[in-house]
Amino acid sequence: MTVTLEPGFLDGRVALVTGGARGIGLEVVRGLASHGASVVLCDLDADAAHAAAEATPGDIRVVTGDLTADGVPERVVAEAAGWHDRLDVVVNNAGYTWDGMAHKMGDRQFQAMLDIHLVAPFRILRAAAPHLREPAKRDAAAGREVFRKVVNVSSTSGVMGNPGQANYAAGKAGIVGVTKTLAREWGALRINVNAVAFGFVDTRLTSDAADAEVVVVDGAAHELGVPTAVREQVSASIPLGRFGTPEEAAGGVLFLCSPWSDFVHGQVLNVTGGQLTGMSS
Ligand SMILES: NC(=O)c1ccc[n+]([C@@H]2O[C@H](COP(=O)([O-])OP(=O)(O)OC[C@H]3O[C@@H](n4cnc5c(N)ncnc54)[C@H](O)[C@@H]3O)[C@@H](O)[C@H]2O)c1
Repeated sequence: MTVTLEPGFLDGRVALVTGGARGIGLEVVRGLASHGASVVLCDLDADAAHAAAEATPGDIRVVTGDLTADGVPERVVAEAAGWHDRLDVVVNNAGYTWDGMAHKMGDRQFQAMLDIHLVAPFRILRAAAPHLREPAKRDAAAGREVFRKVVNVSSTSGVMGNPGQANYAAGKAGIVGVTKTLAREWGALRINVNAVAFGFVDTRLTSDAADAEVVVVDGAAHELGVPTAVREQVSASIPLGRFGTPEEAAGGVLFLCSPWSDFVHGQVLNVTGGQLTGMSS
C-alpha cells in the first residue's frame, strides 16, 4: 500500500495540543487544522489562546488552565475527548523555563520543571488512554489498522544536558522515558508514541534576554530568554547557521502526526538544524 498524504488527511480526527497559544504549539495547531483535524488548543494564557484560535482557520476549540494544577490535565482531556466524542492525536508541548545553576537551585525550582515537562504530560496521557486505547481495540477487532498519534516535546537539554537547566533537562529526559515505555505498551494498538527534541527555536523562550518576556505559573514569575552572547555562540554551533523557526519546529511534530510516520515508533526526532552539542551517549 502506498502512503499518500491527501490534503485532508486528518479530516474527522481530533487533536489536543498543549501550549498551543503561541510559539511552536501554535504552528502545530495551524498545521493540524489546515490538514483537516479539529484541534483543541490548550493553554495557560487565556487571552493569547482565544486570540490564536480566532486567527486560525479551521475547527478550533480553546481549553484553558494551568496543566500543573491538580485536576487540570484530566479536565482538559475530558473536554477534548467529549467535544466530538473522540481523540486521535495528543501533542504534549506546553512548557517554560526556570533556569539556574544546579548548586544554587531550590527544591521548588527543580520540581516546577518536572511538574510541567514530565508530570503534566504523563497525567494527560493517562487520562487520554481510554480515549485512545478503547477505539483502537475496536478497530483491531474489526480488522482495521488505524494509527493514532502521541508526540511528546523534549529538548536537546534533555538528551544531551545544558548548563543552567538541571531541572528542565530532568523533565525533558524523563518524558523520553515515558515516550519509549508507552511506545512499548501501546504499539500493539497502533498508537504511535514518539518525541521531538528541539534545539534552539526562535520563540520567547530563546529570545534575547534583553527583551525577555515573563511567564507566571502558580503565582511565580519567571523571566524567559537567552543572553545575547549565548545566542551568538549557539548560532555558531548549529550547522544550518541559525535558530529554527516555529514553523520548522512544528514540521517535525506534524510529520509524527501524519501517515508518513506510521512505522516510526518510540523514537526521539532531533529537530535542531544539525546541532548535536552536549554529552551524548
Ligand atoms: N524554543 C526552543 O528553543 C525550545 C527548545 C527545546 C524545547 N522547547 C520546548 O518546546 C515547547 C514549546 O515551547 P515554545 O518555545 O514554543 O515556548 P512558548 O513560550 O512560545 O510557548 C509555550 C506555551 O506553553 C504555555 N504553557 C506554559 N506553561 C503552561 C502550563 N503550566 N499550563 C498550560 N500551558 C502552559 C505557555 O502559555 C505558552 O503559550 C516547550 O515544551 C519547550 O520546552 C523549545
